[in-house]
Amino acid sequence: MFTLVKRMNFGRMSGMTRADTNPIFNNNKLKLGTFCTNTVSNMTFVPERRDASWANSLAAARLADNAGLEAIVPIARWKGYLDGRPEHFSNDVFDVFTWAAGLAQATRYSSIFATSHAPTIHPLVVAKQCATIDAISGGRCSLNIVGGWNRREFDMFGINLMEHDQRYVYLEEWLQLVRRLWTDPGEFDIESRFFRMKKALSRPQPLQQGGVPIMNAALSPTGMRFSAKNSDIGLISPQGERPEDWRPQVENYKRMAREEFGREIQLWTNVAVVQRETLEAAQAYLHRYSVEYLDVECLDSIMRTISMENNIPAGSELLAAMRRRMAVGAGHPLIGTAQSIAEELAAISRVGIDGIIMTWVDYVDGLERFCREVLPLLEQAGLRQPFARAS
Ligand SMILES: Cc1cc2nc3c(=O)[nH]c(=O)nc-3n(C[C@H](O)[C@H](O)[C@H](O)COP(=O)(O)O)c2cc1C
Repeated sequence: MFTLVKRMNFGRMSGMTRADTNPIFNNNKLKLGTFCTNTVSNMTFVPERRDASWANSLAAARLADNAGLEAIVPIARWKGYLDGRPEHFSNDVFDVFTWAAGLAQATRYSSIFATSHAPTIHPLVVAKQCATIDAISGGRCSLNIVGGWNRREFDMFGINLMEHDQRYVYLEEWLQLVRRLWTDPGEFDIESRFFRMKKALSRPQPLQQGGVPIMNAALSPTGMRFSAKNSDIGLISPQGERPEDWRPQVENYKRMAREEFGREIQLWTNVAVVQRETLEAAQAYLHRYSVEYLDVECLDSIMRTISMENNIPAGSELLAAMRRRMAVGAGHPLIGTAQSIAEELAAISRVGIDGIIMTWVDYVDGLERFCREVLPLLEQAGLRQPFARAS
């Protein structure tokens, strides 16, 4: 059984590793987390959809934390997906760093992620914010890094969205600096392509030796190569309806990390969960929120942006598949009973996926059902250990 490592002191303790405080390195074969609780449920007008309120963020985080889920991951979004529509709910998103700091104080076990749009935040700011969240959480901070893709956000900053592959050149330099600030004992000067820093220093450094773990959600070959080289967790959206279709993608990704960079990385993916007593009831609810109450205008707009920015032709099967997923909740759909969901999660684990972050229309209802009925089945299947919180 896992126990909570108590780390009330702010100082670093020698001999401790990140696995001692950050559960993303625990021994559970299938790690679990929540995704996007810092914003509204996307793409649906269903009346019970959640608002971006602190009460909702906190309630979901406490359920996840009390059940021993490994990760609480926000989405980084400065602006939503519809032009000229300030009232549209996709604009309602909490700042990820201050949100993570609040949750760090309110939880005791889960790793609290922040997500950083690298071009909009200087490495010095991110290094210090993460070190602060790491101190508040006792070594449970993790960082998802993204290069950005939604031009509307960059227009607000008055900066250009870089050409696709350049985003990863920038991201690599940016991350090297963040990591150096987390680990270098002294001050340093940098004159690089994108940064100029004199006598740079960020203290205190994170509690986690080597800095906080890095997640990256790349899908392109350039992005995945970056992630294999630099991240602890690659967050992927594998192509294919059935987990078995994902096996080559997962194996190739891990092999690239191992053979080209001598690294073992975890691969996680995101799923949208609808759990009911029967399959029919789950499908009926899926139909309700993703067909009857679908926010077609928002979905069409986001798909146009994705198509344009990634050169994915309108009318292509790839874009159609992405649209179907996006309508359901942006990830692989897990629609069914506790039993069928547990079986699908086991199938996902069998192809080599190490972790899953989950979305629901209503997180509190969804997490309560999931933790009560699915977690015990995953424990019986040997995918997770029962969680015991230290007193
Ligand atoms: C599961 C998942 C989560 C993501 N989260 C964010 C996010 O929070 N903010 C963001 O701007 N982009 C996010 N992205 C988009 C990625 O950063 C990236 O732009 C996208 O996956 C395309 O990959 P590529 O850059 O390799 O083409 C996410 C992507 C995936 C698959």
